[in-house]
Parts: sequence; structure tokens; C-alpha cells
Amino acid sequence: MEATAEAKVAWRSCVTTSRQARSQEEEVARALAAELGVPFEPRRQSLDHWLAGGQYEAVLVVNREHLTLWVARAGRQPERLFFHPSTSVQRVKGLLRGGSDPMVRAMGLEPGMSVLDATVGVGSDAIVASFVVGPQGRVVGLESVRELAALTRWGMAHYQGPIPAVEEAMRRIEILHTDHGSFLAQAEAKSFDVIYFDPMFRDPVAQSAPMAPWRLLADPRPVTPEVIAQARRVARRRVVLKERKGSPVFEELGAQHVEGRRSGRVAYGIWEALP
Ligand SMILES: C[S@@+](CC[C@H](N)C(=O)[O-])C[C@H]1O[C@@H](n2cnc3c(N)ncnc32)[C@H](O)[C@@H]1O
Repeated sequence: MEATAEAKVAWRSCVTTSRQARSQEEEVARALAAELGVPFEPRRQSLDHWLAGGQYEAVLVVNREHLTLWVARAGRQPERLFFHPSTSVQRVKGLLRGGSDPMVRAMGLEPGMSVLDATVGVGSDAIVASFVVGPQGRVVGLESVRELAALTRWGMAHYQGPIPAVEEAMRRIEILHTDHGSFLAQAEAKSFDVIYFDPMFRDPVAQSAPMAPWRLLADPRPVTPEVIAQARRVARRRVVLKERKGSPVFEELGAQHVEGRRSGRVAYGIWEALP
């Protein structure tokens, strides 16, 4: 997906249940539809009917404690997305063993800090940040695509895994459906210690395979110099942006330093907060 200024971020979607839904699931699905401002559809049709028929571009399915997002794909089977903490589990395990994490180093994160993850996506980076800042800190994640924000918010609230520290870190994260440009323009100066951006890479070849279905709906817009200037106003300490190592984006946005493991594929651009 090319980065473009006229990116589509509003999709035609609905919420439904599995075919064998009990009344409790239907209630949850209806409440989710109302919260998102999209129709609730009783599950009398196959998902294909809605997706291949073109009525909806995305369908959220409530099935017991799971939320699944089905996305239409022209001429192909619909793609299924569900929440998974992805690399955060391994990264938190590494930190628990006393290891270090390049994102945490670039952010200069310490317990008690507040972090605004301005492109939260599936939330792996936010989970690691939440683990490091701990219960005295705060992590807020912004996602401009309503259906992706819903999936991540659901995952943060419901996901159960083998590592209690990961689950605890997830439960503390607040997910907001909003565009980071609008959020930052209205935010108070110096209201978060660190502001973090991990936009969709300009070069999709560098994207990992698990992100592939996510890209169908994700907001591909690049971070602009205006957004970085706002973020520096809202940050108390620093602004950090992740991109592919060697990306021209760091220079275009005037990063003050760029950090990254010599062997790694990604790097972190850093701007200090405005005085
Ligand atoms: C590469 S993903 C982030 C992955 C995330 N760091 C993680 O660890 O899972 C980028 C996400 O930012 C979202 N996004 C892009 N532009 C945005 C904007 N202007 N405001 C809020 N979210 C945005 C995209 O929809 C996408 O879900």
C-alpha cells in the first residue's frame, strides 16, 4: 500500500455474531456496534454474502470471548484478523531476564513514565512500553481505523496468555480511535513523557508477514513535519519514530538522532521535546 495523502481510513463495516450465538453474545455485539456507530446485523447470512456482495468491506464477528475481523479482498477469499500480542511476549520475556530492547532504549523509558503511542496498531510496542512504565505509568494508544482500534481494544481487555506480566501490561493500556494529528493538535503541552510513532513503512517489502492482512485496512498516511512539531510540543521528554533502517524519512522529518542495532532492520529517529 502506497503512502498517500488521500488515504482511505473509513470502511463500510458491521458487527455480527457467530451462527450459534447465545443471547449474551448478541447483546455484546449490539453494544459494540452501538459504540462504533455501525450496524448490528443478525447472523442470518454468510459472511461472504456481505463481503463478496460488496455491502460491507469489513465485518466484526463476536464469538464468545473472541472478536474476529473479516476483511473483503477483491477476487479473493476474505482475510481474517484477530488480536495477538505478537512479538511483545518474547520482548517482555527478554526484559524479565534482564535483557534490553531497542525501542525502550530509544524512548529512554523508565517506570512511572507516560507514553502516547500515536500509531498503536496491534499494540505490541504499546504492551512492551506498558510493561516497562508499570502500574505507576500510563500508556495511551491511538488508532485512526475504527475497526482496528476495536480489535486492539478488545484484545487488550480480553487476551489471556501464559505470562501474567504481559496480561497485566495489556489491561492498563487505553486505546482511542482517533487520528493522531487531531489528537495532538488539541493535547496540552508537555502532557506525555514520550510520544511514539510506528507508521506503516513506506516500503512494504520491509513489512513482516503477520502485518500483511492488517495492511488491507491500515491507515497508510505518512507522519508529517507538522505532526512531529505538535508531538514535540506535547512531549515532556522526547518523540521517537520507528522506520526501516536507512529510510529517507528520518532526514525528511529532521530527526535529531537515529538509533538502531547494527544487525537490525529498523531504526529509531529521535527528537528532544521543545524547551
Ligand atoms: C505499523 S502499525 C503499528 C504497529 C504497532 N507499533 C505494533 O507494535 O503493533 C501502524 C498503525 O498506525 C495506524 N495509523 C496510521 N496513521 C495513523 C494516524 N494518523 N493516527 C492514528 N493511527 C494511525 C495504522 O492504521 C496502523 O494500524
